Amino acid sequence: MLYAVARAIQAKRIVEIGTHRGASGICLLRAAIDNGYAPHLWTIDPFPAMHVRDTALAAFHEAGMDAAVTVIQACSDVALPKLFDEIGNVDLVFIDGDHTESAARNDFEMCRDRAEWIIFHDAGWGSVQKVLAEVRSGGWTVLEFPTRYVEADNRLVGIAIAQRNRK
Ligand SMILES: C[S@@+](CC[C@H](N)C(=O)[O-])C[C@H]1O[C@@H](n2cnc3c(N)ncnc32)[C@H](O)[C@@H]1O
Repeated sequence: MLYAVARAIQAKRIVEIGTHRGASGICLLRAAIDNGYAPHLWTIDPFPAMHVRDTALAAFHEAGMDAAVTVIQACSDVALPKLFDEIGNVDLVFIDGDHTESAARNDFEMCRDRAEWIIFHDAGWGSVQKVLAEVRSGGWTVLEFPTRYVEADNRLVGIAIAQRNRK
C-alpha cells in the first residue's frame, strides 16, 4: 500500500519520522527508484536501542540505498526544524514516530508547510484520529485506509494520506 501510494505521488525527496528497522524507508525509496528517479530519504529516529539503528543501516546497505539515505539519530522535534532549514521543502513526509496525540500533532505542525503530501501511519489509533480531524479542518484532504493488525492484537492501524488543498 505504501509503495503504491508513493509511486502515485511521484515523491523524490522524502522525510520519514520513525525509521525503526528501515522497512518503510526502503519501500518509499523503492517506489521512487521504480518511477525512474534518483530520490533521497531523510529518516529520523532516536534509536533508543542501538541494535535497531544497526539493523536499519544494514538493511539500507543491503538494498543498495546507502547514497540515497540520510539517517538522523534524534527525536523529530529536535531534528526537523534544522533539517528543513538545510534541505528546504520535500515532496512527502511519512509520519510514523511517537504516536501520542501531542507528538503526532507536533510532527504535523512542523511539516505542514514543508510538503504537499503527508502520510500518517497507524491512522486508526485514537490519538492519530484526533490529529487527522484537525488536519482536515486545517485545509487538507485526507484519505484513510484502515486495516487491522491481524498478526497481533487486531487493533486498527492503516495509513492516512493527506494532501494540502490547492488554493
Ligand atoms: C512504528 S516504528 C516505525 C516503523 C517504520 N516506519 C517502518 O514501518 O518500518 C516507530 C519508530 O519511531 C521512533 N520514534 C519514537 N519517538 C520518536 C520521535 N520523537 N521522533 C522520531 N522517531 C521516534 C521509535 O524509536 C521507533 O523506531
